[in-house]
Amino acid sequence: MGGGAKTVYLETMGCQMNVLDSELVLGQLRALGYEPTPKMTTADVVLINTCSVRDHAEQKVLSRLGALKKPKQKKPEMVIGVIGCMAERDPDGIFDKMPHVDLVCGPGELNKVPALIDEVRGRRTRAIALAQSLSRKSTPLQRALEFDSVEALDLARTPGPDQNVLQSYIRVQRGCDKFCTFCVVPFTRGPERSRPAAQIVAEAHMLADRGAREITLLGQTVNSYVQQENGRTVRFAELLERVGAVSGIERLRFVTSYPGDFTDDILYAMRDIPQVCEYLHIPAQSGSDPVLKRMRRQYSVSQYVELIDHARQIVPGIAIASDFIVGFCGETEEDHQRTMELIERCRFKNIFVFKYSPRPGTVADKRDADDVPEQVKRRRNLELLKLQERISQPANQALVGSTVEVLIEGFSKAALKAQEAEQSRGEEVGWRRSDQLVGRTRSDQIVVFSGEQKHIGALADVRIVDATALTLHGELIRMRDFAPASRAPRDRSLPILGAA
Ligand code: SAH
Ligand code: F3S
Repeated sequence: MGGGAKTVYLETMGCQMNVLDSELVLGQLRALGYEPTPKMTTADVVLINTCSVRDHAEQKVLSRLGALKKPKQKKPEMVIGVIGCMAERDPDGIFDKMPHVDLVCGPGELNKVPALIDEVRGRRTRAIALAQSLSRKSTPLQRALEFDSVEALDLARTPGPDQNVLQSYIRVQRGCDKFCTFCVVPFTRGPERSRPAAQIVAEAHMLADRGAREITLLGQTVNSYVQQENGRTVRFAELLERVGAVSGIERLRFVTSYPGDFTDDILYAMRDIPQVCEYLHIPAQSGSDPVLKRMRRQYSVSQYVELIDHARQIVPGIAIASDFIVGFCGETEEDHQRTMELIERCRFKNIFVFKYSPRPGTVADKRDADDVPEQVKRRRNLELLKLQERISQPANQALVGSTVEVLIEGFSKAALKAQEAEQSRGEEVGWRRSDQLVGRTRSDQIVVFSGEQKHIGALADVRIVDATALTLHGELIRMRDFAPASRAPRDRSLPILGAA
């Protein structure tokens, strides 16, 4: 097997849940002595954490895997693994199309990745771990046992010393029970299960101790979080309160909310708990009742609008983001117009628009024809985005002249690109005093401004001087703090940002 540390290349596609899963898998492998590498073609272990939500995402996975054929011929001991939703959805398809794949592992089994890698290494056989055993028909005891085994992954979380935990995710819920007719998630991630509140709070403490200032709670329908604790019921609003109270956590977010279960206590929590940001991601999917019905979304357009109005009344300054699917089965021009009206009415901060992609096994795929032509989907997609741009542009423009609180995340994309170019020309990047930084407001607006490397990780006041539909441009007015000094991580092995 050769000496020296094994290297692992891990690529993540898809949602925030996958980003967190990847972090946890990598943490597990690091603890076993693996070293992460950015070089896919020469790594000892290559893992692709996959997404199945649209066909396009799966095609991307296949092309990535295709690119590994030659490297694997050159280095036959390389272990190639497909993990996440596509592994769960179509393991046979993956092995058929990509015979050089060694292991597949579903999102509910990721604690087994190290064992699967060893199995491949030791016996040069394929290794498979899927949660198909965790069926909705399994007994409560079976479910509990399965839950514990995958729960171990989150429980064992220990961020590495070079890991940036400033903004961290915490899983509060696995799976989904909604079965929207277009969606593959309930099939790939299994039934909805909430994690124990005490464990979530303990994780927040651990992350805060290592320097986290912003936490995002993750769940497919995060607002329906519910858990029994010592004979009483803990709901989402209480969870927000308990995580918000963790010392060091200054910003608390949560995604994704499901409109059907959204109760007022959560809105009051957003208003009253200072750490909870005024930001809500709450997908509408369509502005037409017949379409919502075929999607089995369990709310009507007027209920959705009422909820948005109500949220704006209770939570001052709340920013709302939404998702829409265009070209769902049977969507008429009339339905599409209703969606345009809903967007016009709700004045979202931003929207994510997806062209409907039939997913094998879902109700919509079995029951309805995918009858909206591709070019119509494309046009409707553009129309929604154009409309949103017409809403976002003046809304952002109105912020010019105001001062906002920004958590500074790092160098802007442009600054990073310039730094890379300098490096590739062999110039010393060095300790540049000033550069373009990027941060976010509490309402999740992206702000770009000039600052210094040592400011990264800090909170600052930034005055907005210019705005596009997607980005605000500003100038630094005042630092609220310097991250490294005031929030020095307890663990001295952690690098201190900006220390030179
Ligand atoms: N509640 C989940 C939803 C997961 S899918 C969450 O955490 O966001 C994310 C978004 O993808 C959905 O809101 C929906 O707008 C879109 N989507 C899901 N299935 C789709 C499909 N078959 N075709 C196109 N878009 C889809
Ligand atoms: Fe998918 Fe609907 Fe659940 S979009 S994740 S089935 S709430």
